[in-house]
Amino acid sequence: MKIKNICCIGAGYVGGPSMAVIAQKNPNIKVTVVDLNEQRIAAWNDENLNNLPIYEPGLDKVVGEARGRNLFFSTEVDKSIAEAEMIFISVNTPTKTYGTGKGMAADLKYVELCARQISRVATSDKIVVEKSTLPVKTAESIQNILDNTSSGVSFEILSNPEFLAEGTAMRDLDIPDRVLIGGNTSSKAGQAAIKCLVDIYASWVPKKNILTTNVWSSELSKLTANAFLAQRVSSINSLSELCEATGANVQEVAKAIGMDSRIGAKFLQASVGFGGSCFQKDILNLVYISKSLGLNEVANYWHQVILMNNHQRERFAKNIVKTLYNTISGKNIAFLGWAFKKDTNDTRESAAIYVADILIDEQANIKIYDPKVTAIQMQSDLNYLNTRTEAENSKYLQTGTDPYKVLEGAHAIAVLTEWDEFKNYDWQRVYNNMQKPAFVFDGRNLLDKDLMEGIGFNYNSIG
Ligand code: UDX
Ligand code: UDX
Repeated sequence: MKIKNICCIGAGYVGGPSMAVIAQKNPNIKVTVVDLNEQRIAAWNDENLNNLPIYEPGLDKVVGEARGRNLFFSTEVDKSIAEAEMIFISVNTPTKTYGTGKGMAADLKYVELCARQISRVATSDKIVVEKSTLPVKTAESIQNILDNTSSGVSFEILSNPEFLAEGTAMRDLDIPDRVLIGGNTSSKAGQAAIKCLVDIYASWVPKKNILTTNVWSSELSKLTANAFLAQRVSSINSLSELCEATGANVQEVAKAIGMDSRIGAKFLQASVGFGGSCFQKDILNLVYISKSLGLNEVANYWHQVILMNNHQRERFAKNIVKTLYNTISGKNIAFLGWAFKKDTNDTRESAAIYVADILIDEQANIKIYDPKVTAIQMQSDLNYLNTRTEAENSKYLQTGTDPYKVLEGAHAIAVLTEWDEFKNYDWQRVYNNMQKPAFVFDGRNLLDKDLMEGIGFNYNSIG
C-alpha cells in the first residue's frame, strides 16, 4: 500500500514544521494539517510568510515551497480525516490540572477526542500515528477506542515521536539523528503499516537512521530521551551552585568534563533553568508512571531533576534580590528575553516567567524585551500562574519593542534567553543610561564578563 493522503490533527510547533517537511520531501503525497483553532489556520495560510503562527528559522521557506502544491492548512477536520489513509495526531498533551494525577499525569483528553473523531468519520482503513509525546501504553487506549467505536473499519496504530528541538526544528527534521517508528511488529498488518511510514521518511532519511521498534519501546524512548537531556542540564546547574560556593568556574568544569568522549559536550550549559513544553511535562509523566507501578525509587530519582530546576530558577531570582541590597521594591529590573530559548517565540515553561513572578512578589517593576514574543503573550504567561490578579500583574509588568528604551533607567538587567542579538548591543550606551551601580544578572552566561566589567557593570553570571 502506498500513502497518497496524509492528515495531521494539530497545527502546532510539532505538527506544523514536521508536516511541512514531509510535504516538501514527498511532492506526490497530499498533506493536510488541520486544527480547531481558526486563527492559527488563518495564520498558516497567510500570504505573508512572516506571519506564520510559529517562528522557526527556515520554516517560511519550506512552507513557501510546498503550500498550495501538496501542503494545505485547514479547519475541515472531518473531511481531511475521511480522505486520508494515514492520520497523525499532534495535539497538545498538557500536564493535568485536575483530578487524579493532577500536576503530574498527561492530560489525554485531546488525544482521546481525536481518536473518537477519527472513528466517527472513517469509512476506510486507516493508519493512526501518535506524533504527540504520550505516556507509555497510550496506543493501547487509542486502539481500544477505535476498535470499539467504529464499524467494519480497521486501524493500525503507530508511534512516531518527534525529536525536533525548537529553534533548530528545520535542521533536525532535515537531517535527524534518527527517526523512530513503533508499531505492532508481530502482525502482518502492523508490519505493513510500519513500512508505509518508513517509505515516507526514506524519501530523504537514510534507511540506517530509521529505527523500528515495538510501540511501547517507542513511546518510552521519547519520554526518556527528554528526561536524560533535562537531567544533564539539572546536573550542571547543581554544579553551578557548588562552583559559586567554592570559586570553581562552571564553564571551565563543563568544558573539562565535556571533552571526555564518554560524557560529551552537549547540554552542559549552565543556565537559569530549562523550560519548554516537553522536559518538565515528560519527566512528570515518567515520575507518575513509575509511581503508579509502585516504583518509588525510580519516581524519586527522576523527580529530583525537576526539583533541581525549580531550585535554580528560585536561586537566580533570590540572588538578584540579595545583590540589590535585599530590597527591590520599586526598582526597575529589565529582562532581556522571555522565550524559553533563542530562535523561538515559544514561552511555555520559560524560566523567565517564574523569575518574574518571584521578583514581582518583592514589588519590583519588570520591563521586558524579547525579539519574537508579543506583549500579550508575556502578560498571559504570568496570569496563567494564577499568583495574583491580572490587574496587579499588569501594574508590575511592562514590555517594549526597543531594547535600549527597555533598558533605560533600569537598576538591573536579567538575561533570560540567549538571543544572539544581545551580544551585539552597544553596552556602553546601555550603561550610561542605567541607574548606578548598574547590575547584570546573566542567566545564560551569554555576555563577555571582561567587557561588561570593563565598562563598569556589576556582572553576575551563573556559577
Ligand atoms: C507538541 C506535542 O503534541 C506534545 O505532545 C509535545 O510534548 C510537545 O509538542 P505542540 O505542537 O508544541 O505540541 O503543541 P501546540 O503548539 O499547542 O499545538 C497543538 C495544536 O493542536 C494546537 O494548535 C491546538 O489548537 C490543536 N488541537 C488541540 C486541535 O486541533 N484539536 C484538539 O482537540 C486539541
Ligand atoms: C526538547 C528536546 O531537545 C527535543 O528532542 C524534544 O523533541 C522536545 O524537547 P526543546 O524543548 O525544543 O526540545 O529545546 P532544548 O533545546 O532541548 O532545550 C530545552 C531547555 O533546556 C531550554 O530552556 C534550554 O535553554 C535549556 N538548556 C539546554 C540549558 O539550560 N542548557 C543546555 O546545555 C541545554
